[in-house]
Amino acid sequence: MTDATEWRDAGEQLDAEALRALQLERLRASLLHAYTHVPFYREAFDKAGVRPEDCHSLADLARFPFTTKADLRAHYPYGMFAVPRDRVRRLHASSGTTGQPTVVGYTDNDLSLWADMVARSIRAAGGRPGDTVHVAYGYGLFTGGLGAHYGAERLGCTVIPASGGMTARQVQLIRDLEPQIIMVTPSYLLTILDEFERQGMDPRSTSLRVGIFGAEPWTERMRAEIEERFAIDAVDIYGLSEVIGPGVAQECVETKDGLHIWEDHFYPEVVDPITGEVLPDGERGELVFTSLTKEAMPIVRYRTRDLTRLLPGTARVFRRMEKVTGRSDDLVILRGVNLFPTQIEEILLRTPGVAPHFQLRLTKEGRLDALTVRAEARPGAGPEVRDAAVRAVTAAVKDGIGVSVTVEIVEPESLERSVGKIRRIVDLRGRE
Ligand code: DLL
Repeated sequence: MTDATEWRDAGEQLDAEALRALQLERLRASLLHAYTHVPFYREAFDKAGVRPEDCHSLADLARFPFTTKADLRAHYPYGMFAVPRDRVRRLHASSGTTGQPTVVGYTDNDLSLWADMVARSIRAAGGRPGDTVHVAYGYGLFTGGLGAHYGAERLGCTVIPASGGMTARQVQLIRDLEPQIIMVTPSYLLTILDEFERQGMDPRSTSLRVGIFGAEPWTERMRAEIEERFAIDAVDIYGLSEVIGPGVAQECVETKDGLHIWEDHFYPEVVDPITGEVLPDGERGELVFTSLTKEAMPIVRYRTRDLTRLLPGTARVFRRMEKVTGRSDDLVILRGVNLFPTQIEEILLRTPGVAPHFQLRLTKEGRLDALTVRAEARPGAGPEVRDAAVRAVTAAVKDGIGVSVTVEIVEPESLERSVGKIRRIVDLRGRE
């Protein structure tokens, strides 16, 4: 294709065979880099009885040990770095749920790779040089804001570095500066959407054409809700700080069929979360990543705790990952039944009168765990609609997931709003 809108970078133009060959070459170099420069990897490989040169095929990667969040915490702050400190140009950190942060670092080349991958992601989402991109991911130690920012600039876009918060101003900026693209968590997008309506403006009438949403799980029903209310294409972006940040995988706007993993730089495996055994493509399990080209902090077989499966490429040669519907950390085990917040989201969003704002409250009733689904009514939903919604959601959870929960439909605007990643689960079990 000569059409400029079909432009692909060199990695995207590889055929499957060339891609596998490139991955193996890069994998071997990256394993050697980690082994040579990071004592943690040297010890772990030695303990497992493998050396970088034992990796003769991509399948051989399975012989190497996993890396976990606990390993990163144990080597806080700089223990996982593979280059001298004066080559580290930027640090990011994730706060984590347990308080102990983890730090990640980038060389100049890492930052450039990251910008390239986010630029590729925005292009796959339908963005083009010359577009204006409104970035409402938080700026700072979180990788969302700056990651999106430099990727958009790399593509040749104009960036509005809005960051998260000050929602009324977000609306004004979108109205006045007329961006074509918005990058934000899906939960904060909903907050912005409500603000449009609060100001009496029609969100369908904005200049926005595409939304690139990630950093938290969201469902196909949420996509439908957002696309309908904003009149945009909504696509999914995935990433994690330990691997690089946003821009590890991206959904292509022309297919919207899961996220193509930029696997010329980030090699994916899916493993059985219990046994660690590598699963064949198509089977669901825990996503594991190995960086192929990173310098400051190479990562080998990192256990993401995100649950998905690998699928063949469609719009690109790279394999796809199915939308992440949950991470093992968000799994609620209620009286022996496994449940993810996204399953509740699916049910709520197909129930008339229920808004996409919800919270799951875990409490103890005697010795048993109990779950209350608290969801907002849509504006204008009267008592009858709300009562019907309570019955419908209770029945759908019981029939579809197999557990009894309490459902409360609360007033519009009464639940806490997100300005970044939303916390769906409120665990009150230890506090009563
Ligand atoms: O959330 C990076 C990012 C920023 C991705 C902006 C996309 C957009 P962390 O703070 O390290 O990095 O959190 C990573 O967030 O392991 C997933 O559990 C979750 N996550 C990220 N993207 C998605 C997504 C950023 N598209 C953790 N769908 C990951 C579901 C996601 N979960």
